[in-house]
Amino acid sequence: MSETAHGVLAGLDEIRDLGADPVRGGYSRHLWSTAELGLREWFVERATRLGLGIDRDRNGNLWAWWGEPGADAVVTGSHLDSVPGGGAYDGPLGVVSALDAVARLKARGFTPHRPFAVIVFAEEEGSRFGVACLGSRLMVGSLDPAVAGALRDRDGVTLADAARYAGEDPELFGPDPAALGRIGLFIELHVEQGRGLVDLGSAVGVASGILAHGRWRLSFEGEGNHAGATPMIGRRDPMVAAAAAILAVREAALARPGTRATVGRLEAVPGGTNVIPSRVQLWLDARAETDAEAHELVATIAARASASAFVEESWSSSVEFDASLRDRFAAGLGGVPVLSTGAGHDAGVLAAHVPSAMLFVRNPSGVSHAPGEFAELADCVAGTDALESLLVSVL
Ligand code: GLV
Ligand code: MN
Ligand code: MN
Repeated sequence: MSETAHGVLAGLDEIRDLGADPVRGGYSRHLWSTAELGLREWFVERATRLGLGIDRDRNGNLWAWWGEPGADAVVTGSHLDSVPGGGAYDGPLGVVSALDAVARLKARGFTPHRPFAVIVFAEEEGSRFGVACLGSRLMVGSLDPAVAGALRDRDGVTLADAARYAGEDPELFGPDPAALGRIGLFIELHVEQGRGLVDLGSAVGVASGILAHGRWRLSFEGEGNHAGATPMIGRRDPMVAAAAAILAVREAALARPGTRATVGRLEAVPGGTNVIPSRVQLWLDARAETDAEAHELVATIAARASASAFVEESWSSSVEFDASLRDRFAAGLGGVPVLSTGAGHDAGVLAAHVPSAMLFVRNPSGVSHAPGEFAELADCVAGTDALESLLVSVL
């Protein structure tokens, strides 16, 4: 194995045990959990060893600067949090590859001519507090810090309290024009979350855009009662209405080619096998090529689901990455494919504010947000090669 191959492998290997989930399989690395704090510590230690200077911004994002922070900086990185039972690559691959690219550049005596930083964004997956890309949204000002601070996790802990526990100051959360204003170019490397690059026969690709997507919480109310003592006729069982809504979600998306709608989380209150629930909540994830299509899809679902509450928890407009940057990068990498994705990313949030681009690394199965997520080592190395060469071209 070459020295550079070892760099990517070593990075992923060092964090292999952090947040491994023995129940779900894969990784559960939620914002400010023991696992996620451990990953932050690992990042700080790893970046410090590379001679980078750590800077914590006001919104829980971690920066590691090569030299002095400054304007028109090139910034690269991703996130370290995961979905429940997620894969090893979604997020960490971008961070590990960024650190590996720095190590290689330092090893070859390269000196950047622009400020340069590696970043770790907070709560990209929204798995703890329900809002995707929390750290980048707060930074760019698209999420009200008061609303964010009041978000609650599944145990009822507010984001503000969780932040204090983690040593952050939630009073400081909010738009950070100073941090955002320093970014002259953002590049996020990410494992591909589909089979696009497999079909195109390429280890690496450049992103063209991201589907519009959002999350909604649906509530169904009923009457809690005994599973054995209550006759079937006359029950008010909200699980039945929830089940009908789930079928409507699937039908609505199938009727609109290209759209996607998923119910991946459902909670019955109180949640006993021998108890008719008094309330069921489920969470809808809906995506489409355009904002209008996504909204139409959700409106159809809302009309068909007899929910007592239908609340938007997170919304991300469709993204088209800077076309000149995208084409320049794809050409600079020898004409690698340009492809879009159905997955959300901090680069998508930043794209509305600063020039942003993404690199994808082939995922042989296309599986993501599940333990089976994978990338061959040779493709990870090709990803770092690509990132390194783009960095050299812009630094
Ligand atoms: C994050 O990966 C998302 O697409 O929800
Ligand atoms: Mn993800
Ligand atoms: Mn990700």
